[in-house]
Amino acid sequence: MTTQREIPVTYEDQGHFLHYGRVLLVKPGKTTLPIRFKRFANIIYNFDYRRDDVCLFTFPKSGTVWTAGIIWAMTHMEELERAKTESLNNRVFYVDNDFIQTFKDQDHREKLKKLCPDAKEEDGVVLQLAALEKGRRIIWSHLPFDLQNPDVLDKCKVVSVIRHPKDNLFSRYIYYNKFGGASLQFVAETFLSGRAVHGSHWHHINETWKRRDHPNLHIMFYEDMKADIMAELRKLNEFLGTNLTEDQLKKVAEHTAFNNMKDHPTMSPSFVSFKGSFFHTGQVGSSKGKFPPGLDARLDAWVKENASKVDPAFRYIS
Ligand code: A3P
Repeated sequence: MTTQREIPVTYEDQGHFLHYGRVLLVKPGKTTLPIRFKRFANIIYNFDYRRDDVCLFTFPKSGTVWTAGIIWAMTHMEELERAKTESLNNRVFYVDNDFIQTFKDQDHREKLKKLCPDAKEEDGVVLQLAALEKGRRIIWSHLPFDLQNPDVLDKCKVVSVIRHPKDNLFSRYIYYNKFGGASLQFVAETFLSGRAVHGSHWHHINETWKRRDHPNLHIMFYEDMKADIMAELRKLNEFLGTNLTEDQLKKVAEHTAFNNMKDHPTMSPSFVSFKGSFFHTGQVGSSKGKFPPGLDARLDAWVKENASKVDPAFRYIS
């Protein structure tokens, strides 16, 4: 039994935010999360990681689902066909869903009841299912490192994906509008101030970037993945120690190609009330020409200033 630590954070009420309900700013970091996070903060902070877990920690809209599909395929090469019948959120553990509650999780609830009739849903459905899993786990979260178990990198491998913030923002705008109206200006202002759900893009990137030399952290860029997926798969193959052949990596690339994922309902997360597809254009530069000139200039200045603060060597390809 490991010692349970208290997560060193305080909360500041931020009122309501779109379809997420009441949200809190989690300090001293800069992460805004639904009020339900409070219930799970310590459970996540003390989550019991195992040596063979693969975590995927990203800022939302950076290519998480794509990378989750890739990691699952690379670690389940012998059973790729399963991806055609079993939904992605049953194959990977999206632990944030216990407090974000975006996905339809009736299946998860039933599964938990079957596996553990005494389990209480309020202790986290996905978190408990992950704890009960006997096989290799892929654990996906959008929380920054300061809200994760501080020992996670010493326990298992973590993959992170970073995407240019302007495309990331535009992708978020499209996503929010699948749930109901949110103007581009509103989404941009909350993104710039870091007060949208999941908080500040830069806080998330900083928390990841400062750990970049840890041998158990592998950082990928969405733009690099789009430019040469095979090169990125080879690096991931080495990092994960999956020892896949070039032909197998080609299979992974094909299996997770944008159109293949888009056309297979089991390759995207399933949603409660979601208009249209989870996937949009899946392109680099998707935000070009989409922002009014004043906002576009503000965003450019904001990216330039904050990227250099992360690290003078930090760069985005666009
Ligand atoms: P767009 O909205 O620009 O199309 P996340 O999974 O982190 O929420 O990121 C979603 C973004 O990744 C969306 O970007 C989505 O279309 C894109 N995406 C998902 N699967 C992809 C794939 N197989 N190839 C390229 N982009 C993909």
